[in-house]
Amino acid sequence: MRTAHQTKLRLCETLEHIADGLPAVDRLQCLQVASELTPVLRDCHRYEEDVVFPAFLRGRAEHPSSAASIRRLRVEHVEDECAAQDLTELLLTIGHGGAVENPEALGFMLRAFFHALRRHVAFEHEHIVPFAAEVLEEEACCEACAGGDGNCGNC
Ligand SMILES: [Fe+2]
Repeated sequence: MRTAHQTKLRLCETLEHIADGLPAVDRLQCLQVASELTPVLRDCHRYEEDVVFPAFLRGRAEHPSSAASIRRLRVEHVEDECAAQDLTELLLTIGHGGAVENPEALGFMLRAFFHALRRHVAFEHEHIVPFAAEVLEEEACCEACAGGDGNCGNC
């Protein structure tokens, strides 16, 4: 989970570097980030939605705000993937030699994307990951000692 967040933050750094350098661009860097952005986000989101969020909800079922937080994070995943696809198209065009026709608009798009992604990651890191990790750890422990003596203290 934490590695997935680090990967997303690394992509944010690259996008910020591109935004800071406008109107000049490193075309190779544009191609590299364009090739990673959507697949990395999709893989991270799939893992969070299949493993992390359900674990968080199992551990926090008694808190009514938990389900609302997860619904909001799922919506943000969709929004981020849509924005990532738009950015990917632009960065591929620029990477393949296209002109940066409107550096201000591109800079605004890049900044809106990585600011939103950083806020999303910070929220998950502070409020979701610690609870989900605890639940997953306890469940793994209980699976491991099923059939054993069951004296792990969690079971
Ligand atoms: Fe997420």
